[in-house]
Amino acid sequence: MKKSILLNAIILIQILIVPSFCSAQKFNDLALTPPMGWNSWNKFACDVSEKLIKEIADAMVSSGMRDAGYIYLNIDDCWHGERDSLGFIHENHERFPSGMKALADYVHSKGLKLGIYSDAGTQTCGGHPGSRGHEYQDAITYASWGIDYLKYDWCNTGELNAKEAYISMRDAIYSTERPIVLSICEWGTYKPWTWGAEVGHLWRTAGDIVDCWDCELGHGIWTSNGIMKVLDMQKDLRQYAGPGHWNDPDMMEVGNALTVSESRAHFSMWCMIAAPLIAGNDIRTMSKETKEILTNTEVIAVDQDKLGIQGFKMFDYGDVEIWAKPLSNDEWAFCFLNRADKPNPAELNWKENNIYDDFFHKKAEFNKQTYTIRDLWAKKALGTTDETFKTIIPAHDVIMIKIVPKK
Ligand code: GLA
Repeated sequence: MKKSILLNAIILIQILIVPSFCSAQKFNDLALTPPMGWNSWNKFACDVSEKLIKEIADAMVSSGMRDAGYIYLNIDDCWHGERDSLGFIHENHERFPSGMKALADYVHSKGLKLGIYSDAGTQTCGGHPGSRGHEYQDAITYASWGIDYLKYDWCNTGELNAKEAYISMRDAIYSTERPIVLSICEWGTYKPWTWGAEVGHLWRTAGDIVDCWDCELGHGIWTSNGIMKVLDMQKDLRQYAGPGHWNDPDMMEVGNALTVSESRAHFSMWCMIAAPLIAGNDIRTMSKETKEILTNTEVIAVDQDKLGIQGFKMFDYGDVEIWAKPLSNDEWAFCFLNRADKPNPAELNWKENNIYDDFFHKKAEFNKQTYTIRDLWAKKALGTTDETFKTIIPAHDVIMIKIVPKK
């Protein structure tokens, strides 16, 4: 009798537990706030090497970037060598003479994590071996190297179904039992925000970014977009983002060919929309201004707020926009963005503009509750919401504030 109870209990446990271990899924405890790190592509394109990555790792520590939260150090395209006769991928031995495992060990010893890049098609965008037909082999290889993050691109994919292709890599990663963040990079082509949450941890919502304020750069069959153009493409996507699954407007161009004001505005807006903060500049040689932008912990805290709510445009006056983002503890961030190439005044009469964010059930009723205001770039108090907020926004810049309920 006792034996049969025991047997039944074991069978029941297997029915309940075993499928949840066996059925593939993504690693759910990763990227609970937008991932932060660095990626080689925007600044170095195909010029990646073990030397560069080690120097960047050192600079991430000495600059304070790591301590500000930038943990993932991601090698983009062109690290690849060839597949061997069994189909396993190898690193380019000239560029990575000590091998990827040794590089991962080095990066880990600095308290950082290592990311790598592949492609769902036959070849990467840079013409290196893609993972198509080698998904499980590649995932095993990455796990054995100690990789923590995979950006998975979409070149040379022919008629592949995007969701299915990304699920294949998700399942391959899951089978290795190594928690690896999966960054879906199909440029928003098949609306990854509608299926990405169960597949990966972030998905690109647009094509490639380029380091200009509001330009469009044609490359024949595709176009890259300046900061404002990419920002405009994030419209109507906020309901899809949250802890573990983020809209990704692309890696940052802060500190590249932008002015200091433009870099500050770009960074602020990425934080307002809870974007992954993946720096794309040369950390080794960045200016004091760039470092101060990237490591402003009060602005980073807006991005990293644990509620993970993407902000929204509250008012659009053409050149001037006012954005709002609900934060935990009934706090809010606001960003006054000036898109124009001359300074512009902006104001907000709080008491006439209660906010109701119906989708995330957040509200701020300024006629009932006073908030204190803090300027997150000037790092100083700016009165309360009992007075109309008035400011002048420099050209291509922002004024960014946080408000806290007054006790
Ligand atoms: C695509 C991606 C970029 C970068 C390159 C590498 O264009 O969108 O972010 O990874 O490929 O070739």
